Amino acid sequence: MRQQAEAHLRKQPADRDRIPAEDARRMLRELQVHKIELEMQNEELARARAEVEALLRRYTDLYDFAPVGYLTLTRDGTIHQANLAGANLLGLTRGELIDRRLGVFVSVESRPVFSAFLEKVFSSGGSKENCEVALVKDGPDALWAHLEASTEDKQECRAVVVDITERKRAGEALRRRLAELEALHSVSASLRAAQTRDETLPILLDKTLAALDTDAGIIWLYYPDGDELRAAVARGWFQQLGESPMKPGDGVAGAVFASGQMHLSAEFASDPLVRQPAAGPIPAGWGGVCLPIRTGGIAVGVLFASVPLPRQITPEQVSLLESLTEIAGAALHRMSLHEATVCQLDQLQAMHRVDQAIAASMDLRLMLGILLGHVATQLKVDAADVLLLDQNTLTLEHAAGRGFRTRAAEGARVPLGESLAGRAALERRAIRIDDPAKIQESPQFAALWAGEGFAAYHGVPLIAKGQVKGVLEVFHRTPLAAGRNWIGICETLADQAAIAIDNAQLFDDLQRSNVDLALAYDATTEGWSRALDLRDRETEGHTLRVTEMTMRLAKAMGAGADELVNIHRGALLHDIGKLGVPDGILRKPGPLTEDEWKLMCQHPQFSYDMLAPIAFLRPALDIPYCHHERWDGTGYPRGLKGEQIMPAARLFAVVDVWDALMSDRPYREAWPEEKVLEHIRSRAGTHFDPEAVELFLRVVNEDAKRAS
Ligand code: C2E
Ligand code: SIN
Ligand code: SIN
Ligand code: FE
Ligand code: FE
Repeated sequence: MRQQAEAHLRKQPADRDRIPAEDARRMLRELQVHKIELEMQNEELARARAEVEALLRRYTDLYDFAPVGYLTLTRDGTIHQANLAGANLLGLTRGELIDRRLGVFVSVESRPVFSAFLEKVFSSGGSKENCEVALVKDGPDALWAHLEASTEDKQECRAVVVDITERKRAGEALRRRLAELEALHSVSASLRAAQTRDETLPILLDKTLAALDTDAGIIWLYYPDGDELRAAVARGWFQQLGESPMKPGDGVAGAVFASGQMHLSAEFASDPLVRQPAAGPIPAGWGGVCLPIRTGGIAVGVLFASVPLPRQITPEQVSLLESLTEIAGAALHRMSLHEATVCQLDQLQAMHRVDQAIAASMDLRLMLGILLGHVATQLKVDAADVLLLDQNTLTLEHAAGRGFRTRAAEGARVPLGESLAGRAALERRAIRIDDPAKIQESPQFAALWAGEGFAAYHGVPLIAKGQVKGVLEVFHRTPLAAGRNWIGICETLADQAAIAIDNAQLFDDLQRSNVDLALAYDATTEGWSRALDLRDRETEGHTLRVTEMTMRLAKAMGAGADELVNIHRGALLHDIGKLGVPDGILRKPGPLTEDEWKLMCQHPQFSYDMLAPIAFLRPALDIPYCHHERWDGTGYPRGLKGEQIMPAARLFAVVDVWDALMSDRPYREAWPEEKVLEHIRSRAGTHFDPEAVELFLRVVNEDAKRAS
């Protein structure tokens, strides 16, 4: 049109005239407008192209450098296109990837999943499908990929591939941790229910192996009596080894037991620490771990868990095993308490009660009675007795018994060396009869057996500090099943009985010598006081009178037996210190000079000095030392006041003055009783404790009433 219009304008006017000028101008205007429009369109086009190119570049970048892989796949999984990330994901270049089938890179395990995924993508008519597959690539670790695709096309689909290896690993760790927690929970729940060791160990081993997803393991337990480890329960290849006991320190089990340190073995068969079992070689291709089982910090055994190569025990699994063996150790501990003896706890408590009885009571018969009660229940025997050895006659005599039907046993007097008990004592060993026929050898004993209906006998010598104290005898009316444990308990009880007897005898001896000593002292004391009265001729009988009166007051006051003993001794000895006062002063018919009085006032101190070194008399010192102290503090030798003065001395002071005034003295004649009592009453609160005076006057009044 443009050419047309220009040509028209270039035409001769005549020709031009063929097109009206108006039209031509209009056309030109239109042309100009059109031109501008075109130019605008061109610019837009260029801009759009630039934009598209930029967009394309951006998308190409996105496509290639996206953190996700984009693959174009055909129905059979052939890769037509791949972005960089998709190629990188597999560790290949795009060139290496194109036209290969993705299935080649999918792990064998994941192939069914992958095939199903492709199938669904191409048949579902555009819905989004996804799957998770393991991809194999160079290097040790598998790659986990999440694939997502949809297409309406029958030939091709675009698939998005995301690397989910990290997530997968985290998830797996979580799952493992969860499985471990479940294992822990289930082991501890099962072990709580288990009552015996025989139940516990298989549970522990099976749960442990299940938690590790393996089937080979063994538990060795330590037996202190043989100082060896014995296989307790085995699974998998350990069962084929026919394990013989192992000493601590030997092999892996022994080393772990002795050191308490876990041992990891990449492969047991090639581990130099492993002791080759007698029955045959340890199979190759199995590694694992051996851990100690501890109760209360002490190793009681070891646990092996073995996994086939190339698996190795992971640190997480080790910590799981540590937790499991800890739980097992606690359970075993509980069981050993429960199981080792019928009830060891009971036994311990019983022993404790016996110990307490020994400590609390020195009454031997009582103690032996308690002990025999424990013998009967702990040993489950029908009857038991204790015979004590009389060291003078060397005869065993019945001391305590229980469970007997007749009284025959009570009269037992068995000479050392004779009959069963006598032989047990002489030979210092347990004697045991479980064949009633054998008892005929001992005729006197046979009668007792027949009367009681006994079928079994066990006699144990009671030995303390190397000395035979007697014999513990137990009897049963049916045969006795006496295992090692039974004998152990029996020996323990016998030890306790021996200690009890020894203690009681020591105590008896001590008491006897104490009584002897006391008698000797009291005789001496009375001798002294009598000598004193004889010397101070005029006071004849004073000491005995004041002692008797003081005892009556002390009893009325509620003094205890021990106090009374000491008040008695103190009253008898109250003026013993006058032995330090010369005759010339003591017997002086008139008043004393100042110097004489000074010496006289020292007699309580002399008493103290004489008696204090004698431990036996020290508790009796109150009266001799303090009988001249006065309530108002004006007395001697220390000027004590009020309650500083011992109560016994306060009482005694009243009695002493009362008796002194009632008697003739070298320095004056006796006072009439009325005057004496009046004097004492008037000195209450100054010389004397008012309460002591009150008590004294009451007792004297009662006497007067009784006399009248
Ligand atoms: P003692 O003769 O056994 O007297 C004990 C206490 O009874 C005396 O303690 C005193 O508190 C009281 N008592 C005895 N006689 C009298 C008395 O005539 N009047 C009064 N108010 N109280 C009397 P005391 O006074 O501390 O004397 C201790 C000891 O000293 C007496 O024991 C006696 O052996 C001796 N003694 C005291 N005064 C004399 C004295 O005048 N001549 C001599 N030769 N000895 C005396
Ligand atoms: C048109 O828009 O009519 C065609 C464009 C051209 O002639 O360049
Ligand atoms: C086993 O056989 O239980 C391991 C061997 C060893 O402890 O050395
Ligand atoms: Fe005195
Ligand atoms: Fe006196």
